[in-house]
Amino acid sequence: MKTVINSIATHLPSKVVTNDDLSDTLDTSHEWIFTRTGIERRHLVSDGEFASDLGIIAAKKAIEQADFDPAKLEAIIVSTTTADRHFPSCGARIQGEIGATKAFAFDVGAACAGFIYSLAIADSLIKGSNLNNILLVCCETLSRFVDWTDRSTCVLFGDGAGALLLQSSEDDHQGLIATKLYTDGSKEKHDSILAHSGPQNGHRGYTTMKGRSVFKYAIEYMDQSVSEILTENNMTFDDIDWIIPHQANRRILESLCKMKNFPTEKMIITTNEHANTSSASIPLAMGYGIENGKIKRGHTILLTALGAGLVWGSAILRY
Ligand code: ACO
Repeated sequence: MKTVINSIATHLPSKVVTNDDLSDTLDTSHEWIFTRTGIERRHLVSDGEFASDLGIIAAKKAIEQADFDPAKLEAIIVSTTTADRHFPSCGARIQGEIGATKAFAFDVGAACAGFIYSLAIADSLIKGSNLNNILLVCCETLSRFVDWTDRSTCVLFGDGAGALLLQSSEDDHQGLIATKLYTDGSKEKHDSILAHSGPQNGHRGYTTMKGRSVFKYAIEYMDQSVSEILTENNMTFDDIDWIIPHQANRRILESLCKMKNFPTEKMIITTNEHANTSSASIPLAMGYGIENGKIKRGHTILLTALGAGLVWGSAILRY
């Protein structure tokens, strides 16, 4: 039994903010942001627009694309660390809005690695609990969780959502091949690398980050996890058509390609358009790759991500 992707859809909020726009209110510049991160613009939510709103639109598009009856969904897994509220979950709201009357729904909080964690959970539900139809939604609004006067963090993030209809299949030629997940909370305990403060004095709180530490760990741990998952599955980079990494920073991604001697042309990079949309970044990049005719059915794709925790992981799938 395999977990296959029937459909994938994405949604970005309509408001686009360029680096030049940011330099109107912050002591920054397009040149600084672009040379260090590869980011040119980001989509941001407007007042009253929340993570689940983005997720609902992406979810409806994925269902429509597959011409699927949402009442047949058995589970909805929502990856988000920027939920509208602490409770109810984004999962519950999305379930109630899309007519998924028979699905149970819940949120997964694994920061920027949330898509890979959610994929592993969906695969376990399909293989271990005999579910056949699962909707995986990643929806993030990091812009609501950063300090817009802190130029060292706010310029890095964007908002967006992606949704995938995952189904069970007996076709051995497509579907999820493997996932591998890791967590090391001790790094955060000793070094406060990347965290959200939590609510403070009635305010939602802010994201703090040691950029150089994140940079170092992202390269080291993504390198480790892609090597391990390939070895464990008797594969090499020659078997991979595309790498889709978490889109934190173009320089991190190019360094990974260089270390692995993997051509950057075979990596899907959307940091320029989307900035860092946390767990939504891989589905957004995958959607972009498919829409632009790069990724085709039958292609083998390696996914990798690292996020606050530290949490990280990789997956291999045949689209
Ligand atoms: N515009 C202009 N100057 C800035 C800005 C900005 N937006 N932000 C910081 N600076 C200044 C700093 O104040 C500092 O000035 P100083 O030397 O006078 O003190 C100078 O630029 C250098 O700051 P550094 O933080 O040392 O800059 P660095 O070259 O390390 O680049 C960056 C910072 C881009 C954040 C880099 O460390 C990085 O990319 N790290 C990875 C972080 C990342 O990708 N995070 C995403 C979230 S985590 C995740 O998704 C896994």
